[in-house]
Order: sequence, then C-alpha cells, then structure tokens
Amino acid sequence: MTFSRIAGTGSYLPEKILTNKDLEQMVDTTDEWIVTRTGIKQRHIAATDEFTSDLAYHASINAIASAKINPEDIDLIIVATTTPDLTFPSTACLLQEKLGINKCPAFDIQAVCSGFVYALTTADNFIKTGSAKCVLVVGADTMSRITDYTDRSNCILWGDGAGAVILQASIEPGMLSSHIHADGRHAKLLCVPSGVSKKDSKSTISMEGNAVFKMAVKTLDAIVDETLNANGMQKSDINWLVPHQANIRILQATAKKLHMDMDRVVVTVDKHGNTSAASIPLALDCAVRDGRINRGDNVLMEAFGGGFTWGSVLIRY
Ligand code: COA
Repeated sequence: MTFSRIAGTGSYLPEKILTNKDLEQMVDTTDEWIVTRTGIKQRHIAATDEFTSDLAYHASINAIASAKINPEDIDLIIVATTTPDLTFPSTACLLQEKLGINKCPAFDIQAVCSGFVYALTTADNFIKTGSAKCVLVVGADTMSRITDYTDRSNCILWGDGAGAVILQASIEPGMLSSHIHADGRHAKLLCVPSGVSKKDSKSTISMEGNAVFKMAVKTLDAIVDETLNANGMQKSDINWLVPHQANIRILQATAKKLHMDMDRVVVTVDKHGNTSAASIPLALDCAVRDGRINRGDNVLMEAFGGGFTWGSVLIRY
C-alpha cells in the first residue's frame, strides 16, 4: 500500500506588519479589546504589487528546499485560496509558471479557512491511488484585499501569508487519516456577498462573529472525536495540535477538549492573525523549523471556515 508523508515545509509572510495600535488609528477599537477577544497582536499585509501567487511562490520555494527536491520532481500542484490573483487562470497555474515547471497538472481548491485541510486530503488521495508521487500543496491568501477596514467587527482578524508542504509517496504513513465536511445552510453567516457571477454592492467579508464562534467550537469538538475514533487513538496519543488560527479562544477550547496543555498547541494567531487557508501550513512550518515538531510525532491539524466547511488531518510527521 502507498501512503503519503510530508517531506518538507515552507512558509512566507509579507514584510509589512499591521499592529493593533495601527488599527486603533483606523477604527473605534483598542489593543486591549483585540488581544482579549482574539489573542491577535499583529498581522502581515501584502504590498500593493504583491499577489497571492507571489506569497505562494516564496512559501513553495522554502518547502522545495526543505524537502530537498527539484521543482521538476513535482507532479501535481494544489493551491488552496479564497483570494486568487485572477478569476482565471487558477493561482496554481500562475504558481507553476513562477516555479518554471510546465508539465504537471495544477488547480485551486476553494474551501476558505478549511482550504489547506481540503487540499491535503485531495493530494493524499492522488498519491494513494498512484496518480501522483510528489505534490506541492499550498495554502495562500491575501485576506486584506477582501477586508473592509472601516468594519471593526472583523477587520481586526485578518492577515496575509502562505504556507506550503511537499507531500510524497511513502511506504510508511504519513497521513493517518483525513476528514472533511461542509454544510452550505450557514453560508450567509460568513461570506463575501459579491463574486464573479453574482454582483453585490458589498465585496468585502461579512460575518456574524458570535454565531461563527459558537459553531466553530462545537464543530471542532466533534471533529476531534471523529479523528481519534477513526484511528483508535486516545487524546494522550496526540503530540501536537496545529489548528487553524482564527481566535485564541477557539484554539483553547479545542485544546481543552483534547486535555492538552497550551504548550502542545502551535499558536501563531498572535503574530499572523487569521490568514485563512495559509494559517495551518504557516503554523506547521514554524513548529517544524523551531524544532518543536519532530519526525514520529502525531500531529492533529483541524480547521473551520466559511461554507461552512471544516475538517481535520492526522499525520505522523
Ligand atoms: N473593538 C471594540 N469593540 C468591538 C469590536 C472591536 N474591534 N468589534 C466589536 N466590538 C463590540 C461590539 O460592538 C459589541 O459591543 P456591544 O456589547 O456594545 O454591542 C461587543 O464588542 C461584543 O461584540 P461581539 O461581536 O459579541 O464580540 P465577540 O466576543 O463575539 O468577539 C469576534 C467578536 C469577531 C472576535 C468573535 O466573535 C470571533 O472571533 N468569532 C469567530 C470569528 C472567526 O473565527 N471567523 C473566521 C472563522 S474561520
């Protein structure tokens, strides 16, 4: 049987930092309110001439170097993003061109903040069925481009960034299981009401924060049970939680569910804010590079986002 395993990780954050103090000058808010309610202290913002594919490119180069492969070894590119450079071609195709490779298939996945979990699940299935051997999986978003910086109810949350992994065929797991879900009935609670086919006067994020918060906690609670049951594992078998970085209080709720101390949870929300599809691979790369996550560790990644979509991936790193 063929499994897939992460051979290397990479990430990239734009240079410009937007602090809570900066936001105090833009909307009626305070650093104290933002830190208490969200755990966020700062976020990175892409330059005006920097696009999602550029962020994805830098993260990919770092992942390729970390996996010690050549770009030509990649036989599939999947980019999870809600903020593509263009309506088409896909950001994955633009990334492929930037990487100087032109033979492999490339496509985008849209599952908002769950995008990376969806993309990793898709890549795993390509590998398991023998359709691919070396997949570049990227989560990249420029959320600042769809943020209304006059709306204090959610402009304080979002940041820009990208994370990437190289997923390779392996005789040992690797990816132990993945679980993805969606429920379109709640679309209006978290959305951008305008798009390509349907125009609306509002083309920035609209969110009922409190309802989203409650749903996220409940759903992530259930996905922890689903993942552990599928693998016959106990809570204590999980070495690291690498959650989607939406709000420190949501992270704390999932850690509590796992009876896990917060020092086993990889937290980047304070420095990155919510970077949507980029947040999990960014956090994973941070914890791999600083030596917290090591080969053989059981790592649980989970996400919840617009759609609603949600999911988890359990890996033995
Ligand atoms: N600064 C200061 N006050 C603010 C504020 C801000 N940036 N935003 C809202 N407020 C005020 C509200 O007006 C409200 O005031 P009121 O009590 O006088 O009416 C009060 O703070 C509480 O607002 P509420 O929306 O209930 O706060 P909250 O505790 O739910 O926190 C979020 C708001 C957005 C931080 C929180 O709901 C959240 O994180 N939700 C999940 C969002 C998320 O993760 N989305 C992405 C999923 S991938």
